[in-house]
Amino acid sequence: MELEQAVAQHYAHGSLEQAILSALAAAGKDANRLTPKDLAPVDEFHIGGRQATIAFAEQFEPRPGMRLLDVGCGIGGAARYFASEHGCRVAGVELSAEYVEVANALAARVGLGERVSCRQGSALALPYEPGSFDGAYMFHVGMNIEDKARLFREVRRVLTPSGVFGIYDVMRLAAGDLHYPLPWTSGAEGSFVADAASYRRMLVAEGFEVLKERNRRDFALETFAQMRARGAAPAPLGLHIVMGASAGQKVKNMSTDIASGLIAPTELICQVAK
Ligand SMILES: C[S@@+](CC[C@H](N)C(=O)[O-])C[C@H]1O[C@@H](n2cnc3c(N)ncnc32)[C@H](O)[C@@H]1O
Repeated sequence: MELEQAVAQHYAHGSLEQAILSALAAAGKDANRLTPKDLAPVDEFHIGGRQATIAFAEQFEPRPGMRLLDVGCGIGGAARYFASEHGCRVAGVELSAEYVEVANALAARVGLGERVSCRQGSALALPYEPGSFDGAYMFHVGMNIEDKARLFREVRRVLTPSGVFGIYDVMRLAAGDLHYPLPWTSGAEGSFVADAASYRRMLVAEGFEVLKERNRRDFALETFAQMRARGAAPAPLGLHIVMGASAGQKVKNMSTDIASGLIAPTELICQVAK
């Protein structure tokens, strides 16, 4: 699929694992004694990073032993968090073969190779049997996916009849042109930001009940203010390693569009409808 190739290309790095290991060394970490927490500044590719994942988990309420699917898992930061902090078994699916390789290598490094397993594949044709998971979540992926109805149908298919599905995506608040590049695309042709009402409508049409919705605009603005307060020079270990040279511009544009009220990160918590 052309769009999926373009998305994988957008996120391509080339030598990501090496770049992360060098940054860990520069930050004074021993690559052979890493914990999932050590990786958090670089492996959570969404607004607010680990803090956002913790806040999401309070809404999502994972239980030990739950089989979770991480849709568009990136390099697996959230998957390792749910495995290490909540005792879940997490499968990740991700378009970028490089991200999958790094996700599995980092899971092995922190001793989570048994509980976290990522594979290359599309959220629109999930490589799993029906009813394989008790829960699924998706962080900052929907902006790359035009056919969200098909995405939600696929997630519904692989969940058990009492499965839960949590979303943390950047959603539309008002009409207007966005500034590019953004972290998920270099231009408008690769951006499919939708409003929460459209998400809800499609989720319900695909067999979900929406239990909770939370706008995270204020949290995002606080996060950006803290980043600015830390000053211009990025810490050795940060998301700029994953996002590349234009990281600063991408984050600046996203923060401008959130501040002006065009978009906002938003959580939705759903369960399979009875
Ligand atoms: C902004 S990153 C977020 C990664 C991860 N969820 C996180 O929060 O750290 C978006 C990810 O979604 C993946 N993605 C986009 N469209 C996808 C699709 N159709 N199927 C699988 N993964 C997809 C991208 O390759 C990218 O790794």
